[in-house]
Amino acid sequence: MNAQIKELQPAERFLAMIRGNRLPLMVAPMFLVSGPDLAIAAEKSGVIGSFPAPNARDVPALRQWMVRIRDEIAAGSWALNMIVHRSYERFDQELALVEEFRPPIVATALGSPRRVMDAVHGYGGIVMADVTTPTLARKAVDAGVDVLVLVTHGAGGHTGTCHPFALLHEVRQFWPGPLGLAGAISCGRDIRAAQVLGADFAVMGTRFIATVESLAGEGYRDMLVASGIEDLVASAEISGVMANWLKGSIQKNGEAAPAASKKTEIDFSGNISVAPKAWKDVWSAGHGVGGITRVQSVMEVVDQLQEQYLACLADEASFLKAMTSQGAG
Ligand SMILES: Cc1cc2nc3c(=O)[nH]c(=O)nc-3n(C[C@H](O)[C@H](O)[C@H](O)COP(=O)(O)O)c2cc1C
Repeated sequence: MNAQIKELQPAERFLAMIRGNRLPLMVAPMFLVSGPDLAIAAEKSGVIGSFPAPNARDVPALRQWMVRIRDEIAAGSWALNMIVHRSYERFDQELALVEEFRPPIVATALGSPRRVMDAVHGYGGIVMADVTTPTLARKAVDAGVDVLVLVTHGAGGHTGTCHPFALLHEVRQFWPGPLGLAGAISCGRDIRAAQVLGADFAVMGTRFIATVESLAGEGYRDMLVASGIEDLVASAEISGVMANWLKGSIQKNGEAAPAASKKTEIDFSGNISVAPKAWKDVWSAGHGVGGITRVQSVMEVVDQLQEQYLACLADEASFLKAMTSQGAG
C-alpha cells in the first residue's frame, strides 16, 4: 500500500483500493471453497481476494495461512472473513491473529461487526459487513462499518431474499459510503450493471468456485459446469439459514429436495472445520451458475470479466454518442 493511501480514512482507503485495481470486484469468501490459493490468485489478478477464517482446519493452520499471505501479498487487496456469531468458539483466537497479521480488510458474517471494530480500526484496517436487509444495513452502519455488501436474491451460500434494485436504492437513502453488490453476478456486464445501479463494486462467489485455485472437489466443479438456474433449490432446512443448493448434490446423497420453509438453529460450536454435511456433501451455488462453462484459472476468469466489462463501457459510450447526436439534430 503506498504512503498516500495509508493516510486516508478506512472508507476512502477502500475506494482508492478499488480504483487502483483492474476491476471493481471482490472474489467472495466461501466456506470450504476459498483458501489462500484463491485469495492470492485473485489479488494477483488485480481484484480483491478473500477467504473465511473457518476454512483453516484449526487456529495453528490459520496462522500458517496468514504467514503465507503476508509473505506473498502483504497489505495488498485481500479480506479475512470472520464469523462473529456468538456460538463461534474460535472467535477470540482468530481476533488475536487479526491483531497480529493485520489483514487490510476484515469482512464479518453472521452477527454484528461491532465485535471486531476496535481491533481492526486500531491498526488502520477496513471493516466490511454483509447484510441482506435495510434493517441489518442500518445496524451495521450504527456499529461503525466502513463498507457494506448487499447480499441479494439469487446469491450463492447464505442468500438474501431482497431484489438487488430495491435493496440498493433503499440502502443508498441512508448510506453514502462504499457499497458492494452480491448475488448472481456472473459476467463483466453484471459488474458494470452493479455500478450503474449505484454500487461501488461487485462481489462474486459462485463464478469462482470452478477455478483451478479453489478448494472445491472435482464432482462439485463438474456439477457447476453442467448446471443452470433451474438446477437450484433455495432452502433454510440444510444449514439453518436460507441458502441456494444444487439439487443434484442433494439427490446424490439419496435425499429428497428440502422444503424451503423449514428452519433449523444456527450453531457454530464445536470443531466446524470437520465440515457438516451441508457445504461438504450438499453443494451451494447462486443463480448465476449458468455462466460457468468450464474450469478455469482465476486469472483467466478475471481476464474474461475485464474484456466483457470494457466491451460494455464501449457500448455505453457509443449509445451515449448516438443519443446526444440525435438530440443535437
Ligand atoms: C459455496 C459458498 C460458500 C459461501 N461461504 C461464505 C462464507 O463462509 N462467508 C461469507 O461471508 N459468505 C459466504 N458465501 C457468500 C458469498 O460471500 C457471496 O455473498 C455470494 O457468493 C455472492 O453470490 P454469488 O455466489 O451468486 O456470486 C458463500 C457462497 C458460496 C457460493
